[in-house]
Amino acid sequence: MKIFRILKSLISIKKTITFKVVEAIPHELPFIVFKNITNHNLEDVEDFRDTQYMSTFRKFLENNDRKGLYGYYKGRCVVHGWVVYNTTFKTKKVCGYFQLPPKSCFIHFCNVTEYMRGKGIYKALLYQIYNRLCKGYNIYIDTGKNNISALKAIKASGAKRIFQHITVNIRSHCIISFKKKYE
Ligand SMILES: CC(C)(COP(=O)(O)OP(=O)(O)OC[C@H]1O[C@@H](n2cnc3c(N)ncnc32)[C@H](O)[C@@H]1OP(=O)(O)O)[C@@H](O)C(=O)NCCC(=O)NCCS
Repeated sequence: MKIFRILKSLISIKKTITFKVVEAIPHELPFIVFKNITNHNLEDVEDFRDTQYMSTFRKFLENNDRKGLYGYYKGRCVVHGWVVYNTTFKTKKVCGYFQLPPKSCFIHFCNVTEYMRGKGIYKALLYQIYNRLCKGYNIYIDTGKNNISALKAIKASGAKRIFQHITVNIRSHCIISFKKKYE
């Protein structure tokens, strides 16, 4: 029984919806200033997230396969988002589970500070990411099946859902995954 309980606590099932961008729909917010994430402004994420994110983001920059944007409201960082690229000719596994086709990029690790949610900032971030970081790539993005606000914003940004992805994970390692395609 104890072994069963331990196993249960280690195993998680994640259901996500994957989208592909078909047309970037403009969402401009003049009160948010977007900037590329670099070693100079990396620490600004501390305006709304724990210090651990700074070291994660530092690794992203060091690995050199990602780019990210911060958005600022009245000088404070209130939103971040990242893109990982596949510049090879083969499918590449990114973020531990996503099979990214060649010449494509995958948007991930997006977050809007709580007090600024519901003002269209995520949609504005996506528009900036599509235009500034994803030119020339097929663009993929996913989110949790129950993440209503993200699902709405991603759809409104000009992306179409392509499949549902179910992954069975031990800790954060995906051991089995299933895909259900949408028509
Ligand atoms: C998901 C998240 C990024 C959305 O940010 P946001 O700036 O609030 O999103 P937006 O304001 O651009 O759009 C949210 C949409 O969902 C709607 N919405 C917000 N909360 C809602 C709710 N509880 N029920 C239904 N709709 C909701 C908004 O009205 C808006 O809809 P619209 O496009 O028709 O105007 C933000 O909530 C967040 O950081 N969550 C935690 C991290 C996370 O889930 N990241 C995953 C992103 S893939």
